[in-house]
Amino acid sequence: MKTHEALGYLRRLIFLGAMLTLGSSSAWAAPKGSPWGTGYFPNPELVDQDGKTVRFYDDLIKDKVVVINFIYTHCGDTCPMQTANLRQVYKLLADRMGKDIFFYSISIDPKHDTPEVLREYAERFRIAPDSGWSFLTASEAVTTLLRKKLGLFRDDVDAGKLDEHNTSFLLGNESTGQWIRRSSFDEPKVLAWQLGRSMSRVKVDHKTDLASYAGAEKIPKISKGEELFRSRCDACHSLGSEDGLGPGLQGVTHRRDRAWLTRWLKTPDQMLSENDPIAIDLYTRYKKMPMPNLRLNDPEIDALIAYMDNSPH
Ligand code: HEC
Repeated sequence: MKTHEALGYLRRLIFLGAMLTLGSSSAWAAPKGSPWGTGYFPNPELVDQDGKTVRFYDDLIKDKVVVINFIYTHCGDTCPMQTANLRQVYKLLADRMGKDIFFYSISIDPKHDTPEVLREYAERFRIAPDSGWSFLTASEAVTTLLRKKLGLFRDDVDAGKLDEHNTSFLLGNESTGQWIRRSSFDEPKVLAWQLGRSMSRVKVDHKTDLASYAGAEKIPKISKGEELFRSRCDACHSLGSEDGLGPGLQGVTHRRDRAWLTRWLKTPDQMLSENDPIAIDLYTRYKKMPMPNLRLNDPEIDALIAYMDNSPH
């Protein structure tokens, strides 16, 4: 990396760091001298899952509170995890979605992810059409430019690689210049609170639903297994009998033998590719959404199984 690039990157990191600290305060003015002030964002064209052409600045971010992430639809692990996690946030923000809050998932694999493929992906995650969450595609030059502008692209790491792409995403409010980087493993309730309250100017009646996630930061002490379950599994699974994006996990430690379960949690992708009969049956029943390989290590798997085993069945 050349020195000026390194410096530029460092500045962005420091700025993001500052934004992380500022994020929860309610300072509205764009920080003085913010590199992301007026005129910072370009206005290229993108196409959404319905084939509609939109402009990045004018149509997508201007005067809006937004979440922006970069995905590709055939991604095996982090993207489905992130999409499922954001879907939790989207559900919590229900009445605000498409009004002042918008989500944008931009494909970084335009050759594969046509608008039709993106529409199918949205359907698989049960994201309703016109609900404020768009799945977008654009030329590689455009998506690279946007990733750079958003601080989610480094030439040495992200160029030409899909599976190692930067999987952080951004919460932003273009009019206040607040931009916060977040990771897939953040609590959906905290993210919803940030978007719906802390970053937004909408006056909220404390008795409305939004108040119900205001206390989300007070998370009581929980076991390792529960913590893992909440951050990695919750977005797709309940521990009851009702299905989410994946099956309800009530009684799963009795339904499946321990060796199968351990292996499944470690390498679901491999079991699917080996046509394991249980895996294939589940895959067919759950809208052909593969369970992602979450790269869990053995102690994590043990903690998760103990937690699932202790939950009511
Ligand atoms: C992105 C969504 C998603 C995430 C995140 C996810 N799963 Fe799954 N899971 C699925 C789907 C979908 C299936 C059904 C099988 C398939 O389609 O591959 C499944 C299947 C399972 C099964 C088998 C259920 C049965 O009836 O035998 C278990 C157990 C399981 N998941 C546990 C977990 C645990 C534990 C985590 C967190 C560490 C987790 N999953 C994270 C989507 C997900």
